[in-house]
Amino acid sequence: KKKDTVPWFPRSIQELDRFANQILSYGAELDADHPGFKDPVYRARRKEFADIAYNYRHGQPIPRVTYTEEEKKTWGTVFRELKSLYPTHACYEHNHVFPLLEKYCGYREDNIPQLEDISKFLQTCTGFRLRPVAGLLSSRDFLAGLAFRVFHSTQYIRHASKPMYTPEPDICHELLGHVPLFADPSFAQFSQVSYSVVYWFTVEFGLCKEGDSLKAYGAGLLSSFGELQYSLSSKPEIQPLVLEKTAVQKYPVTEFQPVYYVAESFKDAKEKLRKFAQTIPRPFSVRYNPYTQRIEVLDN
Ligand code: TRP
Ligand code: FE
Repeated sequence: KKKDTVPWFPRSIQELDRFANQILSYGAELDADHPGFKDPVYRARRKEFADIAYNYRHGQPIPRVTYTEEEKKTWGTVFRELKSLYPTHACYEHNHVFPLLEKYCGYREDNIPQLEDISKFLQTCTGFRLRPVAGLLSSRDFLAGLAFRVFHSTQYIRHASKPMYTPEPDICHELLGHVPLFADPSFAQFSQVSYSVVYWFTVEFGLCKEGDSLKAYGAGLLSSFGELQYSLSSKPEIQPLVLEKTAVQKYPVTEFQPVYYVAESFKDAKEKLRKFAQTIPRPFSVRYNPYTQRIEVLDN
């Protein structure tokens, strides 16, 4: 049958448990120039976080972590620098949600918020929930999580020596970059249907128009005070969002992006995505059933 030609994908939210040990790990897939690579204390700490993620099963509360003074200091630096840039550099939706996270989820310069508290908060806003992950998943696995409104989130923090930019996602990236927008209903809907080829240049590194100016809504920008400033400077190449182009565009994963794409609005990006998706042939269609949290496969 035609269905058998498509690789396995999860049909229920519990099946996301199978992704836990399929991550990109530094030392193996990540470059040895990772700032934490030669620091044995940092590597041991990363193993503690990896164990939490490996042992986690859907439905459990996410274990709370006591962060060290050094980790809190790194968070403090990233938080303070980014917070001062957000009013001028971040999109409207991000700035709108941020005060709510300060009020309800413990977002403060001297406190690293807990994933469990944020997961509960997001569930009340848009039905999105978090689950801990040990590192970067393949885009296929990561996007499969979004189909169930599950966001895979790292819990460790970047190495203290390089707060301005880190070559892999960390808790600053998830909490400051992604979480604010997952609380926005329109953006949450866009994320649930997003495809990897467009995901990179929208959810991670997207710019959008706001009146006459450009703002950032991509989480990879909203979590790096180095790249956030660079992205709105005159240095990178800026292109209008054309999905046929982003689909074939190559990009670096561990350094500043050379090209950014500008969306007219989230609504416009969602419409473009819907049209683009219709041009991709597949042997069947799928539908998400929110009552059972299952993906239903429909024959065409
Ligand atoms: N550079 C981002 C930061 O400093 C983290 C990051 C690295 C990232 N690689 C990524 C984010 C790939 C999204 C996708 O916060
Ligand atoms: Fe991300």
